[in-house]
Amino acid sequence: MPAALSMAMPARRAFARAALARRLSTGAQPPRVLVTGSLGQLGSTMVDALRARFGQANVVASDIRKPAPSQRASGPFVYADVLNRRALEQVIVDYGIDWVVHFSAILSAAGERNPALGLDVNINGFQNVLELARVHGLRVLSPSTIGAFGPTTPKDLTPDLTIMRPNTIYGISKVHMELLGEYYCEKYGVDFRSLRYPGIISADSPPGGGTTDYAIDIFHAALKHNRYTCFLQHDTRLPMAYITDCVAGTMQLLEAPQDALTQRVYNVHACDFSPEELVAEVRRQHSADFAIEYCPDFRQAIADTWPRTMADAPARRDWGWNPTLGTADIVRIMLAKLHPVYEQAAAAAESSAAAEAEAPAVVV
Ligand SMILES: NC(=O)c1ccc[n+]([C@@H]2O[C@H](COP(=O)([O-])OP(=O)(O)OC[C@H]3O[C@@H](n4cnc5c(N)ncnc54)[C@H](O)[C@@H]3O)[C@@H](O)[C@H]2O)c1
Repeated sequence: MPAALSMAMPARRAFARAALARRLSTGAQPPRVLVTGSLGQLGSTMVDALRARFGQANVVASDIRKPAPSQRASGPFVYADVLNRRALEQVIVDYGIDWVVHFSAILSAAGERNPALGLDVNINGFQNVLELARVHGLRVLSPSTIGAFGPTTPKDLTPDLTIMRPNTIYGISKVHMELLGEYYCEKYGVDFRSLRYPGIISADSPPGGGTTDYAIDIFHAALKHNRYTCFLQHDTRLPMAYITDCVAGTMQLLEAPQDALTQRVYNVHACDFSPEELVAEVRRQHSADFAIEYCPDFRQAIADTWPRTMADAPARRDWGWNPTLGTADIVRIMLAKLHPVYEQAAAAAESSAAAEAEAPAVVV
């Protein structure tokens, strides 16, 4: 009889765990990493962090859009449509990829505008990545979201394991992603990892069509017009994080040792606020007469189904999730980053108006 079959039950379980750990050991150092959807809101900051850690040449950025010259100059970039499994496989093989950070997605508001596209990219795209991870032994990190929860989920200190019956295409596709990732991990030993991001706030790249985008738009509007029309109600509290905390946490989970992980999908919470609390902070730090109007649209119904705060003790315990920035810090950073951009734009507009005024009139 083979040794494994003759083992007592506990020894057999330990053997199975060790075998799973061996199968999950996608620990090449430094790993070659592919980032899908790298030109989105979060992608370029994530690519920068990965390149700083693993080396420029070891991180391949990809998307279906054309990168800016600076993005192309900062390291390898390839066109990769996650819906085309064969083409994606060619990139993985050609570049000897070990880990995939899967950022291609259609976000909540964009998904409600085009459900067919949301289903296709979020479900079929993810299935392609996961299947290639199985075939080629890759580690896959694919973020989930607070949008994976739904109207019947407890809204305060929402735990990792709770009712998950979302009613948006985005949420449904993310629950599918979480469950399928766990299934592939259990059944085939695919090293799948995920964390449920809150709304992510950043200044360097525009948001991609989510329900928390107001918390970015408001800074542009404050600096441009000193007024903003918010698409959510004044008291809609949602979990949020600044992008540096988001990327730092993603790196921590990506690099965490296998045996530290007690689950495959983790809640992460950094801070939470409502539009009126954000407005109060913008008035305090930027302009006391900043004007706000609330005109809720279809995104209100989405936000109403999401948690207000999340419980994240397992992420803190297992892999050291430790966000550092709260609401006042985020407002300070966003204003400091965007202020020079709008000052420069205003100066350029002024000098081109002056040049126009000085130009001799053309007589026809
Ligand atoms: N930004 C947030 O606040 C937030 C919150 C929760 C979760 N997330 C998750 O984080 C990840 C990244 O989000 P983001 O905000 O950068 O999204 P984004 O919408 O800004 O970017 C997504 C990128 O995917 C690309 N893409 C679309 N279809 C594709 C396809 N067929 N093949 C390859 N690429 C394709 C787009 O061109 C885009 O650059 C997503 O999984 C998203 O669900 C983001």
